[in-house]
Order: sequence, then structure tokens, then C-alpha cells
Amino acid sequence: MNEDVARTVAEIGYFTEDNSVETVNARMGPSVDPRLGKVMACLVKHLHAFAREAELTQDEWEYAVGFLTRTGQICTQERQEFILLSDTLGLSMLVDAINNRRPKGATENTVFGPFHVEGAPVRAMGDAISFDGKGESCLFGGRVTDLKGRPVEGARIDVWSDNADGYYDVQQPDIQPKWNNRGVFITGADGHYSFVGIKPVSYPIPDDGPVGDMLAHLGRHPYRPAHMHYMIRAEGFQKLVTHTFVEGDPYLVSDAVFGVKRTLVAPFARVDDGGETMWRSDFDFVLARPDETR
Ligand SMILES: [Fe+2]
Repeated sequence: MNEDVARTVAEIGYFTEDNSVETVNARMGPSVDPRLGKVMACLVKHLHAFAREAELTQDEWEYAVGFLTRTGQICTQERQEFILLSDTLGLSMLVDAINNRRPKGATENTVFGPFHVEGAPVRAMGDAISFDGKGESCLFGGRVTDLKGRPVEGARIDVWSDNADGYYDVQQPDIQPKWNNRGVFITGADGHYSFVGIKPVSYPIPDDGPVGDMLAHLGRHPYRPAHMHYMIRAEGFQKLVTHTFVEGDPYLVSDAVFGVKRTLVAPFARVDDGGETMWRSDFDFVLARPDETR
């Protein structure tokens, strides 16, 4: 027995139901990274409290181990079931909220999601991003400003959405054109942006794996309300990762990943464009500087 462990046993005693947290955490060595030590001690404390409060049975513990094993085994380069698990437990949104406390008036963040692809083509303002001929056209537009309402020039607006069948291009590489419903737009001096996509549709998160099983057991549906993804980066401002949600979508109040915020629900108005169905969605984005936090 090494000296540290011997001292721990002398001070705390052997592992018992009552001293489990102290015993495990006292086992850490003296030169552990301080942040790692803090995070792990906190994890052990709450994990043990969870088992104690739930009176976790041996069978339940075994089921949980099997569930996490299946979650890992279904992960591939294209599928990240652990992120899906985090999303559906609300953990992703909580971590996002903790790390993006913005002042009143600044556009709120929401989950990044698994379907962003770096390197989408930079397009001219007003250009189309939808190339599979499906869905109802929608003109998206608005302004990017700072908290004082001044336009932000040079903001890089990365947008992506599903197609009318509810799939992102990367989910259907043999069916959809490359970069379908994606594009990057860079604002000029007036801070304006505009592009023509489709009115997004609601879609289920991948639910044929362990996370889908969990949702079914909990009486939860796997759907996300229709949304357009945005990532806006501008020099001297906090990066904004967000969506706008389609007003009136039936899943707004039951998003499978809890991504909806009241301020991100955007108007979608039907406009007449020579007899063709066309939609219009106006939304202004307000960026905060790094020192502007709540
Ligand atoms: Fe999405």
C-alpha cells in the first residue's frame, strides 16, 4: 500500500456506503491538474448522490453499462450517438447556456448540431442555396448589428438547413447536390444579409439507436421543430451559433433537444411571387463583444 492510500485509509477508513465520495476523491494524487481534480471530484459526488437517491439496483446498473456500451458501438465518423444522448438529456443546451451568458438584446445561442460542414462556398448576397428543386422557396434577410444597433461589416454568416424531405445534404450524399442548402455570406458596410433557401421542415433526430430506444421508453418523440442554422463570426465579437425557428411549428414546445428559445422564433410570411409560393423570413442578429456578458 503506498503512503497516500495508507493515510487515506487511516483518516477516512475503508470504503463504506456513507463515506464513498470522500474515499474515492481522497485517492487522487497530489499533483493532479487542479481543474481536472475539481471536475472529477464534482462528478463523483453527484454520481454517488444519484445512485443513492435512486437506490440503483444491480440490474439497473448493468442495464446502464449495456446502454452506454451500445451508445459507443453505434458511433461512426458520420454518427455521434453520445452527442445525441447529451442533446436529448438537455446537457448540451445547459453547457451552451453556461458558456454563452449574453447581455439583454444580444441574439441567444442554441445547439450547434451535428450537421455543420466547414468550407461551404462563399456566395454573393441574395444568392440561392437550395439546388435540389424541392421545397417552398424562402427569402431570408435582415441585419447583423452590435448591441447599439450599429451595422457589423465583414460578418461571416454560415447558414445550413435540411431539405424538404428533412435531410441534410451530408445525410444523403448520393441523392442531394453537394452543398445543398448551405452557404456563407459576408456582410458589407450596411450589415445586411439576404439569401434564398427553402422554408425548413421539422425532422426526427436519428432514432434507430440506443437514444431512440430511450426516447421511446420515456414516451418522447424524436422531432425537432423546423429551423435554419446560423453561425456568425465577426472580428471583435463573440461567435454566435444559433438557429431561427419557423413560427407556428407544432414541435416548438417539445423540441427533442431543447434548442428552442422564445427570442429565436422567427416570422415566416407567405408572399405572392407571380403565382408561385414564396416565403419571407426577416431576422436581425445582434452580436456581443467578448467583454459584454451577462
Ligand atoms: Fe438542424
